[in-house]
Amino acid sequence: MTIPFIDLKTQYQALKPEIDAAIHRVLDHGQYIMGPEVKELEDKLAAFTGAKHCITCASGTEALLMSLMALGIGPGDEIVTTPFTFVATAEVIVLLGAKPVFVDVEPDTGNINANLIEAAITTRTKAIMPVSLYGQTADMDAINAIAAKHGNLPVIEDAAQSFGATYKGRQSCNLSTIGCTSFFPSKPLGCYGDGGAIFTNDDVLAQAMREIRVHGQSQRYVHTRVGVGGRMDTLQCAIVLAKLDRFAWEVQQRKEIGQRYNQLLDKAGIARIQQRADRTSVYAQYTVMVSNREALQKRLAELGVPTAVHYPVPLNEQPAYRHLCCPDCTPVAKGMANKVMSLPMSAELSVSDQEQILQSLLQP
Ligand SMILES: Cc1ncc(COP(=O)(O)O)c(C=O)c1O
Repeated sequence: MTIPFIDLKTQYQALKPEIDAAIHRVLDHGQYIMGPEVKELEDKLAAFTGAKHCITCASGTEALLMSLMALGIGPGDEIVTTPFTFVATAEVIVLLGAKPVFVDVEPDTGNINANLIEAAITTRTKAIMPVSLYGQTADMDAINAIAAKHGNLPVIEDAAQSFGATYKGRQSCNLSTIGCTSFFPSKPLGCYGDGGAIFTNDDVLAQAMREIRVHGQSQRYVHTRVGVGGRMDTLQCAIVLAKLDRFAWEVQQRKEIGQRYNQLLDKAGIARIQQRADRTSVYAQYTVMVSNREALQKRLAELGVPTAVHYPVPLNEQPAYRHLCCPDCTPVAKGMANKVMSLPMSAELSVSDQEQILQSLLQP
């Protein structure tokens, strides 16, 4: 029997009464766009992270795009970011006519290497965008300090994979100027379609992002700025709300499962993504590093263990982006892209399935 890579079915079964009731409440009141669940979710998520404002939106990609739009990013601007991420991080920068400036990553976490950021800053730099890869934040204090030194550059945390993670006891999404997350179904906190949220403590940015979310509208049919159709559906907000009570338990489960993987893999001498002592990861992905990846993936699949690669090619080597940066200027990201392989991970993963995964991995 194949072990699920992410077990959304078991999660739904555990929450079925709450989720079904939440969906039916929306069907009964019929306010599918900007219904009461939208504000209720925003208030709860803001309280969870400690941020003053939460603005839900159509996806994690839209959260990043709306953040850059609120900061007035446009042609000629440069955004310092990582190439070892999902394409959306760089895509939104290029969509606005700006340029992603790719900085190499740490070899043990895959996160942007804060020590290399200053060398990438120019007079055109308008923001720094670290990604909290695999559910663990980058060194946000170091990044914020560099940003402060260079004219208070805004820092946008791409926290699509890290809602629920902490950095020095503070919640991911509330570690810098703006935090952006995703509720894509496979994320640590997922909805049943597309969804996302933006967090900030800045009143002016929050107001701008609320307007951008509804076509730049400040009052009905008064379009003060250029915006997008970027709202999150009421139904999706209701689903996330129904999942919130269980979320703390899920985060704890993920930590325990991640730590069990760590112990078993260390004993077996298999390289893995490392966690820093001042952070807690939500293990959006549990990722090892292997040299014979293709053959191993094939063998594991035959043994009922699905795997995935996040990400096989750094963005500065992708056809649509390679002209923006020297493709070979981030050798660490390139090396990791050749080796990373993610194992099944979800709050529902049982000890026996985890042991089966490890046995399959170690089989000669
Ligand atoms: C690092 C990162 N950024 C952005 C996104 C985009 O989020 P969404 O799929 O909700 O648009 C994702 C989702 O896969 C992601 O992993």
